[in-house]
Amino acid sequence: MKKNQNQMMMMHVSLLLSHLILLLLCIISIIDGAFASGKSDYVTAVGDPGMRRDELRVALEAWNFCNEVGEEAPNMGSPRAADCFNLTSTSLKHGVSKKDNLLGVGTPFPGISQGALNNVDLYAVEKELYLGSLCQVQDSPKPWQFWMIMLKNGNFDTMAGLCPSNGKKTPPFSDPGRFPCFGKGCMNQPTVVHQTTLLDGNTTMRGGFNGTYDLGSNPSDGLDSISFYEVEWKKKLGVGSWEFRHMLKTSKKYPWLMLYLRADATQGYSGGYHYDTRGMLKIPPESPNFKVRLTLDIKQGGGPKSQFYLIDIGSCWKNNGKPCDGDVLTDVTRYTEMIINPETPAWCSPTGLGNCPPYHITPNDRKIYRNDTANFPYGAYHYYCAPGNAEHLEKPVSVCDPYSNPQAQEIVQLLPHPIWAEYGYPTKKGQGWIGDARTWELDVGGLSSRLHYYQDPGTTPARRIWGSIDVGTEIFVSDKDEVAEWTLSDFDGLDRLNEEKCVPGFIRVMGVGKPKQARKGRFASPPIPGPPCTPACLQLEVIVNIHQFFSISQGDHQILPPNVSVFL
Ligand SMILES: *[C@@H]1O[C@H](CO)[C@@H](O)[C@H](O)[C@H]1NC(C)=O
Ligand SMILES: *[C@@H]1O[C@H](CO)[C@@H](O)[C@H](O)[C@H]1NC(C)=O
Ligand SMILES: *[C@@H]1O[C@H](CO)[C@@H](O)[C@H](O)[C@H]1NC(C)=O
Ligand SMILES: *[C@@H]1O[C@H](CO)[C@@H](O)[C@H](O)[C@H]1NC(C)=O
Ligand SMILES: *[C@@H]1O[C@H](CO)[C@@H](O)[C@H](O)[C@H]1NC(C)=O
Repeated sequence: MKKNQNQMMMMHVSLLLSHLILLLLCIISIIDGAFASGKSDYVTAVGDPGMRRDELRVALEAWNFCNEVGEEAPNMGSPRAADCFNLTSTSLKHGVSKKDNLLGVGTPFPGISQGALNNVDLYAVEKELYLGSLCQVQDSPKPWQFWMIMLKNGNFDTMAGLCPSNGKKTPPFSDPGRFPCFGKGCMNQPTVVHQTTLLDGNTTMRGGFNGTYDLGSNPSDGLDSISFYEVEWKKKLGVGSWEFRHMLKTSKKYPWLMLYLRADATQGYSGGYHYDTRGMLKIPPESPNFKVRLTLDIKQGGGPKSQFYLIDIGSCWKNNGKPCDGDVLTDVTRYTEMIINPETPAWCSPTGLGNCPPYHITPNDRKIYRNDTANFPYGAYHYYCAPGNAEHLEKPVSVCDPYSNPQAQEIVQLLPHPIWAEYGYPTKKGQGWIGDARTWELDVGGLSSRLHYYQDPGTTPARRIWGSIDVGTEIFVSDKDEVAEWTLSDFDGLDRLNEEKCVPGFIRVMGVGKPKQARKGRFASPPIPGPPCTPACLQLEVIVNIHQFFSISQGDHQILPPNVSVFL
């Protein structure tokens, strides 16, 4: 008994210390955010709110069909590169050298692990972390690294044995015609030409990346019949936002290409990436409380197959609702994508129920089943597909492609429709498309909190925390060479606090549970003086911390949720 009490005391002390640190972090982020967003109830979740910071941080990553490298393009190094600089009174001082960007498998760099040095896939993962360390900006509650330009080649050589099936290793197989591939080597990485950011005159900064998948061709000789991508950024010193101009062109050999600008989490798994990542989201946005603001100007659409995403959010959680942990057999990537190309049809329909989610939830939380033909908004859903490793699916159902991610995936694809008005999303076909440049403020958190995602029956609903927010297009197997071109600027991600004010007071933690290595007991901390931030923010952090002190195993005892009281 005595021993037990001592342990409890120690636990309290640790809790107190971690709380005080968390409180400070909370307060700093509130103050910081209030300045950045100009609103008292939102803090910015991105490191560079509105893309207004002169000292740009941007990186590029290229993925093969299952989001790996497979093979590096000759003389290009590992397909990770970055452009990050500080300003001095007269010039740009770059943090990433040409040599850093050209680092390729077999060449060591500071911090690389033995296992990664000679493995092309793992090398890229650690190169991203290394580039992140060169670009990192100290900030609260966390440092951040860069915007991420993402390229993906949709060719899949089933005979190469490179991609698993729902995370399971799969031997080569023959399935002619099912996936685009011109033959051996079709899953290659692109060339990368980097124009380091320079001060043009002394008022405008410009830089960019471009290249082609058609190795051996030279885009400077013209783009006829070859693939091409380009992202150029420019900004007037001290004025406005960076403007990112994107261009993506498909070719006969590369009919399925993707190009996005991503705000990824600064750590953990971002959408589709099963390794630790670097990025821009210093606060991982969680449904329902976040919004995204951005300006989008589409100049060329990329043809009828161009699934332009305004926007695509990606996350990862298991079918039992638990967060992902890197186990590709049970982790599931979740994507939610609003496709604004007016030529994209709704595959979900009263006669195509297998392409619809099982139900729709209205803003006032009414559930409409897809078999309710009088009320279900079929036109609002392009396509829904369920994870290939889900065990309790409601039929009919489409299962997502098992190969195009390192693990199983679930995709909810939306189309402009009046039912999305509540969230500030496009309500009519053509909105936001060519000739309709706009600044959007999308209630991404609200919308994504009311969509269906598969979960095993009887499991605790997953926390919907989104590790990446992407804008760009996926030209999905074009019949001819297509070109998409657009500019993106003013990107901000705003995270809402549940309470507006930050008030001084006390907190106290109470609960019933089983302290690690001790018997089940009741605990209550003494009131902790200090200026706490909002109760909601506190509650979250306290619960997270309590999980560090209690072994939450099922079966041997009952665990009640820890109680948190805030005395003001
Ligand atoms: C840029 O500035 C930051 C903070 O002032 C510093 O940590 C970093 O090393 C600088 N990078 C370069 C390339 O000068
Ligand atoms: C690609 O970028 C380089 C460096 O900025 C530039 O010289 C070249 O013209 C660009 N290529 C094309 C086809 O635009
Ligand atoms: C550059 O700055 C100098 C000093 O501020 C100014 O006199 C000059 O006109 C500027 N040049 C350009 C091209 O803007
Ligand atoms: C519609 O679907 C729901 C949920 O799957 C089911 O409970 C209900 O019986 C179905 N209604 C009709 C009329 O088929
Ligand atoms: C914790 O909260 C629950 C529900 O609000 C309540 O029934 C219980 O008595 C509380 N436990 C403690 C230790 O305060």
